[in-house]
Amino acid sequence: ARALETSNVTSIKSLVESPTLSSVPSAYAFNINPNDEADPNDPEFAIPIVDMSLLTSGSPDQRTQIVHDLVKICEEWGFFIAINHGVQESLMKGMIEAYHGFFSLPDEEKEEFKFGNDVLEMFNYGTSYNLALDKVLLWRDFFKVRTHPEFHSHYKPASFSEISLEFSKRSREVALEITRAISESLGLQPDYIYNTMNMDRGLQMLAGNYYPPCPQPQNAIGIPHHTDPGLVTLVIQNEMNGLQVEHNGKWLTVNGPPNGFFVNLADQMQILTNGKYKSVMHRATVNNKATRISIAIPHGPSIDTIIAPAPELCEREGQAPKYHAMNYKEYMQLVQSGKNYMKATLDHIR
Ligand code: SIN
Ligand code: FE2
Repeated sequence: ARALETSNVTSIKSLVESPTLSSVPSAYAFNINPNDEADPNDPEFAIPIVDMSLLTSGSPDQRTQIVHDLVKICEEWGFFIAINHGVQESLMKGMIEAYHGFFSLPDEEKEEFKFGNDVLEMFNYGTSYNLALDKVLLWRDFFKVRTHPEFHSHYKPASFSEISLEFSKRSREVALEITRAISESLGLQPDYIYNTMNMDRGLQMLAGNYYPPCPQPQNAIGIPHHTDPGLVTLVIQNEMNGLQVEHNGKWLTVNGPPNGFFVNLADQMQILTNGKYKSVMHRATVNNKATRISIAIPHGPSIDTIIAPAPELCEREGQAPKYHAMNYKEYMQLVQSGKNYMKATLDHIR
């Protein structure tokens, strides 16, 4: 039985802090199959690393090499770790700390930042994914704040606003550099994605996740498998791992160099490239040792952009478009409706 009525759930943080919790309550039961996990020592599962400094300040040959490498990475993985990206370690740590400060506030104070589930929300605090829709509750609290094109600035603790403004600007530069290199890797002008996706007004959010220790980590899930809406998502975390990406039919735990950005391609990139580049399936697992904090930073087109496979690519490859054109707002609404929860939203617009 759902021992916990969803209407009573305030946060996973307070549930975990209750002294009697020794097993996963049935409302949170989710089965992780250890047989589906990849062996991280198998070279097949060596996660690609992209040295961003070679894109921004390398020689022309070095840049060409990275752009060339990106073709395979985006086709086969849809995921890589960006290193030497120029965002200061202290800023990344400060952002994680600011989120830690927020999640440590009493539940009543965090609840001031509840907003409901609207794609144009400026911020939203909550637990699980969407309590009104979830069949399985998630071992996760979240606090999302929109950072582009508008930035809202009345967060708690007070330092959150200042740090998130600086961190989101610096992270956006990294994401834009990645979109330039990806455009080139497709044989297009470097600004192709920026211009056609109206990224001057592109959506950016910080989606912070709080996953407290779980007594039975194989029997709960932080975020079940999904692909992200948008073009490219960057992810940072504290010292705990938990992100898994699907690669060659297995779940691979991402264990990266400290201070790297985990980078996953998202649905609108797959649509734009007519399926050439992959929006990678991923999920967040939990552990029984320490709280994991992660911050996903999705970067998308502007809300009114109509996204369809790039005609330049379809013509060159002699392919018919594999996806219907749809504006980004409608796509995000489809994702948030929960209709495609734990399924690929992309399959619905084929
Ligand atoms: C996600 O946002 O999909 C997962 C991020 C993470 O916890 O690593
Ligand atoms: Fe995600």
